[in-house]
Amino acid sequence: MEKKVTVVGAGNVGATTAQRLAEKELCDVVLIDIAEGLPQGKALDLREAAPIEKHDAAVEGSNGYEASAGSDIVIITAGIPRKPGMSRDDLLKTNTNIMKTVSAEAAKHSPNAIFIIVSNPLDAMCQVAMETSNFPKNRVIGMAGVLDSARFRTFIAMELNVSVENTHAFVLGGHGDTMVPLPRFSTVAGIPITELMPKDRIEALVDRTRKGGGEIVSLLKTGSAFYAPASAAAEMAEAILKDKKKILPCAAYLEGEYGISDIFMGVPVKLGTKGIEDIIEIELTASERTDLNASADAVKNLMTEIRQLV
Ligand code: NAI
Ligand code: 2OP
Repeated sequence: MEKKVTVVGAGNVGATTAQRLAEKELCDVVLIDIAEGLPQGKALDLREAAPIEKHDAAVEGSNGYEASAGSDIVIITAGIPRKPGMSRDDLLKTNTNIMKTVSAEAAKHSPNAIFIIVSNPLDAMCQVAMETSNFPKNRVIGMAGVLDSARFRTFIAMELNVSVENTHAFVLGGHGDTMVPLPRFSTVAGIPITELMPKDRIEALVDRTRKGGGEIVSLLKTGSAFYAPASAAAEMAEAILKDKKKILPCAAYLEGEYGISDIFMGVPVKLGTKGIEDIIEIELTASERTDLNASADAVKNLMTEIRQLV
């Protein structure tokens, strides 16, 4: 393939993202993980599916970064889940250090790449990756809003018994309980859902969207969501690889947009070859602005905590 994408972290999200990219025949894929044999095994397995899935994307697994050299995009999903006896701070520290190592190595081997960050806590990890790599802000993008709005779209379609393809949803803010789904910009066939559903039902769907990640964790018990997160990361990669100029909600580094500065947070952006080519700003109501500021405060507090820990 003409394009190359590296996916770091060959766990649930990483391997499924590699599968989505290869099966859409968007690019060759390099899968990297520290676990010996894991990326090699998953890459070979994916490659052996290719004759049946009918694509010619090469998938290679590696424990080092040489194979990733010259990647157009690096998608970072590396991290560890909390282990028994591990404090939240220990987890934060470990995952921040993983992000530093991975983003430094990836940037060294692919200095012109665009980073799509997936690892949690998402908005803070984007900032760690940007500061470590010294990449410009248009080349560090966080995946969360595409997933969160896909969840909102799913719940809207289920509620109204309509095709998911008719739905659009708008979610701003940090990835977590403080995210800000915006019903008045969420539509079915162009009609705002505020015209189609009573207020209490909209509030129920908004609440379910905010807690969407936790709902999957409580069902799976041993891990978090990965099919929809992988679809979301692959949609972002496709928009960049094909220079689609697609407007998607992504975590971007803000310098005054929406009145917020010096943090990553979810906003509508235009994705193309250069990464983030524009940040779309819309007028918010007073209550939407209050919610967005609360979400920004949560991200800022986490960044402060990380700077004290690491
Ligand atoms: P997982 O545990 O299945 O996979 C993580 C992989 O990272 C493991 O294979 C591990 O060996 C690898 N890894 C750890 N340290 C590494 C290093 N230094 N270099 C390379 N690889 C390393 O986890 P899963 O489910 O794939 O999730 C990955 C991350 O994505 C987590 O932080 C999770 O919270 C986050 N996530 C974020 C979402 C979002 O919306 N932004 C959605 C879903 C997951
Ligand atoms: C999710 O939203 C865990 O961030 C992850 O599913």
